[in-house]
Amino acid sequence: MIKTITAAFVALGLGTAGAMAAGATDAHVEDFDFSFEGPFGSYDVNQLQRGLQIYTEICSACHGLKFVPIRTLGDDGGPSLPEEQVIEYAKQYEVFDPEIDDFREAKPTDHFPASNLENAPDLSLMAKARAGFHGPYGLGINQFFKGIGGPEYIASLLTGYTGEEKEQAGVVFYENTAFPGGWIAMAPPLYGDDVEFADGHSTDLEHLSEDVAAFLMWTAEPKMMARKQAGFAGVLFLTVLAVLLYLTNKRIWAPVKRRMKEE
Ligand code: HEC
Repeated sequence: MIKTITAAFVALGLGTAGAMAAGATDAHVEDFDFSFEGPFGSYDVNQLQRGLQIYTEICSACHGLKFVPIRTLGDDGGPSLPEEQVIEYAKQYEVFDPEIDDFREAKPTDHFPASNLENAPDLSLMAKARAGFHGPYGLGINQFFKGIGGPEYIASLLTGYTGEEKEQAGVVFYENTAFPGGWIAMAPPLYGDDVEFADGHSTDLEHLSEDVAAFLMWTAEPKMMARKQAGFAGVLFLTVLAVLLYLTNKRIWAPVKRRMKEE
């Protein structure tokens, strides 16, 4: 009796979890390959610089990066711009300075501005705020193998427009296969060939989307490489410690074991 009741509850639980997982995976997220994936992956400096250019020329018209200090563009492991370029880059933005009670040119010590458009979300942490992969059955096993999928979600969103639009209550929505619900209020920001790269890198829609998604991953987790290095050092240290402890344990008990054999 108890067994049947438990079985019924388990079936019910799995059923709900399954329905939830199915709802969450409605939207299609492509598993893009990024250089920073895996325990030893690292950011590709050239890709981050291209992503910065795309953000600056296109996305910054609407979206802000208010949690990112401009000076970090010169950090190792990031876009690694030379100091003079960071100073020049900052000058294109205007920030309000309460000390002079007026707007002035931004300096590297300032943050990127906030969003220009009221309903466009800030992108600083977007790559960590969205999960591209879920399930199965709410277990998160897919995330273990594929990663959380934040940058994959962003790249899929930018390549996911079908070209369909509809107007609702005066707002135009665009059909998008990656956006949960299928209709997003952001017009397709990229079509391919929207920017020109100094290094002649491909500017087709897919590459642009990947580049800007990688850049947004960096803004969301600028210290990812330091984290992975610290993690690796930690695991190495624990491995050595485990071996030493095993040998110590053997030595401590050796006299006792010898005595037991003799008895
Ligand atoms: C013309 C203004 C505009 C431009 C340019 C623009 N966006 Fe958006 N974006 C929006 C608006 C508005 C939303 C909110 C849409 C919604 O919630 O339906 C949005 C939402 C988003 C979201 C969040 C989607 C979600 O899951 O909530 C991401 C990511 C995004 N934009 C990335 C970008 C990137 C990357 C670029 C540059 C390639 C860009 N946007 C350019 C207006 C813009």
